[in-house]
Amino acid sequence: MSDRIDHLLTETRRFAPPEALAQASATTSDLYEQAAADRLGFWAEQARTLTWATPFTEVLDWQPPHARWFHDGTLNVAVNCLDRHVEAGNGDRIALHWEGEPGDRRTVTYAQMTAEVKRLANVLTDLGVRAGDRVAIYLPMLPEAVAAMLACARIGAVHTAVFGGFSPSNLRSRIDDAGATLVITTDGAWRKGKVFPLKPTVDEALREPGHGVRNVLVVRRGENEIDWDDSRDVWYHEAMAEAAPEHQAEAFPAEHPLFILYTSGTTGKPKGILHTSAGYLTQTAFTHRHVFDLKPETDVYWCTADIGWVTGHSYIVYGPMANGTTQVMHEGTFDTPTPERPWQIIERYGVTIFYTAPTAIRTFMKLGRQHTQSSDLSSLRVLGTVGEPINPEAWMWYRDVVGGGSTPVMDTWWQTETGAIMISGLASVTSLKPGSAQVPIPGIDIDVVDEAGAPVGDGDGGLLVVTSPWPSMLRTIWGDDERYRETYWERFGDRYFAGDGARKDDDGEIWLLGRVDDVMNVSGHRLSTAEIESSLVAHESTAEAAVVGASDETTGQAVVAFVILKSRFADAMSVEESEGVLRQHVAGDIGAIARPRQVFIVPDLPKTRSGKIMRRLLRDLAEGRELGDTTTLADQNVVDAIRSQLR
Ligand code: PRX
Repeated sequence: MSDRIDHLLTETRRFAPPEALAQASATTSDLYEQAAADRLGFWAEQARTLTWATPFTEVLDWQPPHARWFHDGTLNVAVNCLDRHVEAGNGDRIALHWEGEPGDRRTVTYAQMTAEVKRLANVLTDLGVRAGDRVAIYLPMLPEAVAAMLACARIGAVHTAVFGGFSPSNLRSRIDDAGATLVITTDGAWRKGKVFPLKPTVDEALREPGHGVRNVLVVRRGENEIDWDDSRDVWYHEAMAEAAPEHQAEAFPAEHPLFILYTSGTTGKPKGILHTSAGYLTQTAFTHRHVFDLKPETDVYWCTADIGWVTGHSYIVYGPMANGTTQVMHEGTFDTPTPERPWQIIERYGVTIFYTAPTAIRTFMKLGRQHTQSSDLSSLRVLGTVGEPINPEAWMWYRDVVGGGSTPVMDTWWQTETGAIMISGLASVTSLKPGSAQVPIPGIDIDVVDEAGAPVGDGDGGLLVVTSPWPSMLRTIWGDDERYRETYWERFGDRYFAGDGARKDDDGEIWLLGRVDDVMNVSGHRLSTAEIESSLVAHESTAEAAVVGASDETTGQAVVAFVILKSRFADAMSVEESEGVLRQHVAGDIGAIARPRQVFIVPDLPKTRSGKIMRRLLRDLAEGRELGDTTTLADQNVVDAIRSQLR
């Protein structure tokens, strides 16, 4: 394994920031020194960039594993994201360039969004929602989704956004666990050229009694026919027309709960990750500003995440809007009506900062560079990626083909639990190594340790831990503090265990190796799925690859790979030839120990709707087992297509 990393390190170059970015970097580079000299003072200074009703006097109260940040201060999160920009004279600045999938467009300024949120705060209050109550938001990428989150924040209600693709039972379990009293949804929204209904899913979720939902507030978008319950359902536009326009925002304590977000992927009951107000806003705003070198006056930022996931919370709503950013928001999918769509959007709005996921980048690669070349992408100056390790080949393609060969690619590591970016370069100062997430951001302490908790040497692999509390950390698991302790803190005491494998290279830079549960043990050797995938994807014939550890009588686990071939290779080689070539390629690239026992050439990979590969299902397939829960699968047909390829 270390051969492979060394090979990557010697092969890859460093990319310094382009001159235009580096010129602005003098003060940014000082951030590392400031944070190292006085970590709490550094975070206090960042927190003071927010607008407080009562300034805090204490920075951190740490009773492991519970942290309170800035806890004697008070503020209003929505005022920080909206009103203060209007008061500063920036009300005419565009907050959202929204584009619907059919091509309809809306422009929302900061003044307009502030007015919308004030009215909506009154609507929520009229519906009986009070500070501390929970509101489920089951909305796709509409400006109203942003307004809904900020209106909750404005009145101190706790939102729990549920991804618009989730099934009725998933929605219901989240409504029940959070104890939500209101659901905000839409009749339907556009996806892949059709209206995708959402309200019927809410109806179905609420069919069985036993929930506490009093009202369903419905945004009209799809204009599809829906059932209506007069005693419960309320049209958003009607309630807004009747609501008072003015709303006096109240200040809430820094540790007032802001939102609950359920994490997927684990078995059993979903975990409701709880985030609170001021610390979360401090770190999301700080990282958004410095990782991407944001210039709010001139930048046009586009984060392609869905609002229902943490990236949508932290890097569409809270961080960017606290910074007064102008951003693009897009309904629907990238390939509708054609694969040129994302690039046309970048050209149309002059997007300068683009933040997406490695899986999207690899899809763009698979489709080919001719699509990107149809549009003028020269406005782009910073690129970002999040969600999974990015293989150096995809990193280079992103920089070269999307970024015109000179645009920094910020690989940002973080989690629903961390709330904000933890490991990344800073665009204006960091020399970047393709494939490495670089270093902890200023003010964050990270280490890589062995099973016993001892720091590993440079070059060795281990487990990623966060060694000091951080402002945007989760505060607990909603309703289950014991599970919070057990999951994150039991293993290494007062160090947070992230569940990811990582390695520090000789320069102290961090390479993420995937979830620890994706690490295989083959004949006593630890192998990372991410590493083998990276090797497979580096082969010219591979479009996409996923690797799992399947149980094996002889070796404990064996490497099983699922590979999508680029179409010209799929046509030119037989399946057997491709399998042989790829097995040999990995053996040659990493070592015989990593040679996959099987390589399955497949037409597609099972993914969640957020684009994460569902390795659990691949493991089931590889081991010939009955498939586990498939409800989070984006396309149910994919599994059948793969199964038909397995012999
Ligand atoms: O395994 C890491 C991976 O995604 C996990 C967190 O997933 P989630 O809570 O859904 O949040 C995704 C968006 C922040 C992590 O434990 N991950 C996230 N970013 C990276 C990553 N793995 C490698 N490199 C990254 N940049």
